[in-house]
Amino acid sequence: MSLANKRIILGVTGGIAAYKSAELCRLLVKAGAEVRVVMTAAAQQFVTPLTFQALSGQPVLSSLWDAASGDGMEHIHLSRDADLLLVVPASADFLAKLVQGRADDLLSTLCLARSCRLAVAPAMNREMWAARPTRRNLEQLAEDGVMVLGPAAGEQACGEIGLGRMLEPNAIMAALPGLMGLGALAGKRVLITAGPTFEAIDPVRGLTNLSSGKMGYAVAQAAAEAGAEVCLVSGPTCLATPAGVRRIDVQSAAQMRQAVLAELPCTVFIAVAAVADYRMDVTATQKMKKSAGGLTLHLVANPDILAEVAALPDAPFCVGFAAETEQLAAYAEAKRTRKKLPLLVGNLAQDTLGQDAAELVLFDDQGKHPLPRADKLTQARHLVRRIAHLLND
Ligand code: C5P
Repeated sequence: MSLANKRIILGVTGGIAAYKSAELCRLLVKAGAEVRVVMTAAAQQFVTPLTFQALSGQPVLSSLWDAASGDGMEHIHLSRDADLLLVVPASADFLAKLVQGRADDLLSTLCLARSCRLAVAPAMNREMWAARPTRRNLEQLAEDGVMVLGPAAGEQACGEIGLGRMLEPNAIMAALPGLMGLGALAGKRVLITAGPTFEAIDPVRGLTNLSSGKMGYAVAQAAAEAGAEVCLVSGPTCLATPAGVRRIDVQSAAQMRQAVLAELPCTVFIAVAAVADYRMDVTATQKMKKSAGGLTLHLVANPDILAEVAALPDAPFCVGFAAETEQLAAYAEAKRTRKKLPLLVGNLAQDTLGQDAAELVLFDDQGKHPLPRADKLTQARHLVRRIAHLLND
């Protein structure tokens, strides 16, 4: 990815993750961006301005009251010129300041006096992340159009394990084309389904499919990296939302269908979800009791979301997935024709389920294109490239 001629303001606030921001600064510069670093006073308790000055090749700014900064209007000039304002890490306190529109230091003032997009990568202890004020602040930031990247789950500097750890610099880099309208799918709306669906039998039991959601989430990440505005409609999984992706959680096929239809129109619809083929005719409202004589469930077919979207008069470019256990090419081609899809991705279920790597074959009007075995994100990037190519054909 090239960020040549892009001007990025990298804001650094006070948190131990500030040291990772130095790596991000290096990656941004390597990608060709012109980076101006603005640090809060607290950030300088963790990393010195000299580190960022050396990495960005520019003096680091931190004070609103810097007599050496030209006409004293630095807070307006800097953000007027920028293509993106990126606050990494963003502390809980800084998020609260953004919500209130406070402007008591250079970085918060720049955030207020900007015409470019603002993205923040929060980093904090898991309890601070889960606290109600932080939850409220995140809702307000979403409403204010601030893009929130992450956080990720995992081991934290405080020794605890949970959500609140800052996204790694590489993952933040991967989200930038989407944020900045760059990439092969720039400006396109891409709608993706992922994960299994869960069809309730009674309040404590249900029918589902084996699906980790990894492939759908990888496709969402790859589409965002390619600059698309991505909406991911996800069945139950325990995966983190890829940076820059908007996610809607659903349980059943009916809810998934409703969410998908509500998100139309879009340019591309990629159905990766393993949707349950059947649901209960009538879901029991109370827990069903065991009986010695066995149990017969009466099931009805679920709507085929992909076939329904592909049959719309103004249908988006529709991509289906087919996991088969045998005769991949024959079944996949038959499915592509039946559902009227320009592109279908086939894989052998036993090779792919729950695994990090996948062996995929793309089927389109020009024939069959096997992709080399690779991790799911690499495969997803191949798929997105193929989609962009077919769209521009
Ligand atoms: O017919 P089959 O279930 O094998 O088709 C798989 C493809 O169709 C996948 O892309 C899946 O996401 C989609 N699908 C769907 N709604 C269903 C069943 C499958 O969107 N009810």
